[in-house]
Order: sequence, then C-alpha cells, then structure tokens
Amino acid sequence: KLPQNVRIVDVGPRDGLQNEKQIVSTETKVELIARLADAGLTAIEATSFVSPKWVPQMGDNAEVMARIARRPGVAYPVLTPNLKGFEAALAAGAAEVAVFGAASESFSQKNINCSIAESLERFRPVTEAAHAAGVKVRGYVSCVAGCPYEGPVAPQKVAEVAATLMDMGCYEVSLGDTIGSGNPANISRMLEAVIKRVPVERLAGHYHDTYGMAAANIYASLQMGVSVYDASVGGLGGCPYAAGASGNVATEDVVWLLNGLGIDTGIDVERLVDIAAWISAVLGREPASRVARAVLAK
Ligand code: HMG
Ligand code: MG
Repeated sequence: KLPQNVRIVDVGPRDGLQNEKQIVSTETKVELIARLADAGLTAIEATSFVSPKWVPQMGDNAEVMARIARRPGVAYPVLTPNLKGFEAALAAGAAEVAVFGAASESFSQKNINCSIAESLERFRPVTEAAHAAGVKVRGYVSCVAGCPYEGPVAPQKVAEVAATLMDMGCYEVSLGDTIGSGNPANISRMLEAVIKRVPVERLAGHYHDTYGMAAANIYASLQMGVSVYDASVGGLGGCPYAAGASGNVATEDVVWLLNGLGIDTGIDVERLVDIAAWISAVLGREPASRVARAVLAK
C-alpha cells in the first residue's frame, strides 16, 4: 500500500545552510553537494537566488552554481522568488528552479515582502520564462500546518495555493511545515484537502523537525500516497542555541525509516551519516539527527 519508490530531495545546502548563523565557505558548500551526490541523492537543492541583504548565507549563489560538478541524473534546483532571481539563476546555469509561496499572509509578508496574491502574480512570469528556457519549476507552499504569526492554517488555503502553483505549470508542489507544528492528524487533514485539487503524485512533503514529529508526518503522508520528501543531511538548519530555530528532518532519519519499511531509495545511509558528522563538525557541533548519533556511537 505504501509507495515503493520514494524520491528524496536534499535541501541541506539551501534550507539548512540559509538558517545557520555562520556563513559556510563556498568550497564547503560545493563539497557538501558533491558528497550528497556520492551518497546517492538525485536531487540536491543547491542555493537560492534571493536578496543577499535578506539572506547573506546564500550570497555566493552564482559561484556555487559555477563550481559544482553537474552529474548526469542529478538535479540541482535553486530558489527564485521573482524574475530577477530567475534571470540570475538562468545565467548561472540552473536547469531547475523553485518558486516559493505561503498559505499564510503574515508569513508571506515577512518572508518575501508581499501578499500571497502578489507573490503568485510574481511567480507567473517566472514560470513562463522558465518554460520558455526549458527550465523545470517546482513550487513550495509554506506554513501548511501552522504559521509562526497566525497559528493554525486552514487546509483549504493550502489547497488553493498548491492548485494555483500547479496550474502555473509547476511539475511538483512541496508542502512546507515551516515551523514543525504538524502532526499525523493535522498533516493528514491538510493532505486530504490538497489531494482533492492536486494529484498526489505531484506532491512532496517538506517537514521541519522542530518538535520531533517529522518522521511520524512522513509515515502518515506515505500512507496517503505521497512519494517525495525533502530533507537535509544532519538535520542542518536547527541551530541548538537559537530559540525556536528548526532544521529540516534529517535525510539519514528519512532513509532509515524508508529502509525499515522496505522502501528502496538508492541512498547509502552510512555515507549520509559520515556527511552529517563532517558538516556538523564544520559548524562546530554534533549532528542533530538521532540516526547519525546512534550510528556514530557504535
Ligand atoms: P523586496 O525588497 O520586496 O524586493 O524583496 P524589491 O523587488 O523591492 O527589490 C529590493 C532590492 O532587492 C533591490 O536591490 C533589488 O535589486 C534586490 P537594491 O536596488 O535595493 O540594491 N532584489 C534581489 N537581489 C537578488 N536576488 C533577487 C532579488 N530581488 C530583488 N532575486 C525579495 C523581495 C523576495 C527579493 C526578498 O524578500 C528576499 O530575498 N527574501 C528572502 C526570502 C528567502 O530566501 N526566504 C527563505 C527561503 S523560503 C523557505 O525557507 C521556506 C521553504 O523552505 C519551505 C518551508 O519550509 O516552508 C522553501
Ligand atoms: Mg524549509
């Protein structure tokens, strides 16, 4: 009953490192991306083409894209909030981009400085230009379970934004539990509403692990047929010293779960643990994930 093929998108170099207080060197980012491909990842979100004033951690976006070795069969998507970001991404050789909206007005304002409706109007020319250039577009919806400013978010609102992104031509919509307020109950209710508007094959789960619920949310989503998950190696992004900071679910935790369920991903969990240990050491701490800590303790 569970999907037998699951695709994992490692978003660590983008979602993880954008949320780390320290700025990691371009060289380390390039090595992280190469190591993830070595471990068997076929989709690695490399960077974002956003304002360096807003997110200085991603200020070396063009340099990262210039220096990574593109491997056949591996996608290196990048975030593009507007046409300016798309044009820079295209010039840097991106073959896949992602537009990112939200299901909460306050979050949209704080994150990209415009309303949900305005953001969707900005994404339309991006998707048009991307399709004209043969570039694939992924869509994100943030705050699918809850918003840091508004609290619980209505599943209908998530479904509406997801359907609009799909209509624009996104090949997949990734559902972001930005603050980790999801649990199997509210995530299932949200998915039920979204699946009425968007085919389940076109959905991805993007769950932050703030309250340790991400693996449970993935299991609930698998049962509803979702077969793509975003994760970041080592659970990057959750600085343990910053109140409220929250990383993505760790890629090694997701692969461990899927292995246990007999679902093959082609990703080597031992190699992921080595990467988690290495990148966490670069950041001066232990890996956040339980799987990495358990495997390393053996
Ligand atoms: P704005 O200030 O409203 O933009 O920012 P603007 O069009 O008025 O332009 C202002 C300045 O920014 C101008 O420069 C533009 O050239 C520049 P100035 O004339 O002042 O020197 N600018 C840009 N520079 C570089 N790249 C661009 C770009 N666009 C304008 N693309 C903007 C709007 C969206 C740019 C800004 O709000 C921004 O960069 N926000 C950062 C958003 C972000 O990266 N958030 C984190 C990623 S989303 C996420 O993590 C959630 C996700 O993981 C899913 C989940 O977990 O829920 C995906
Ligand atoms: Mg995220």
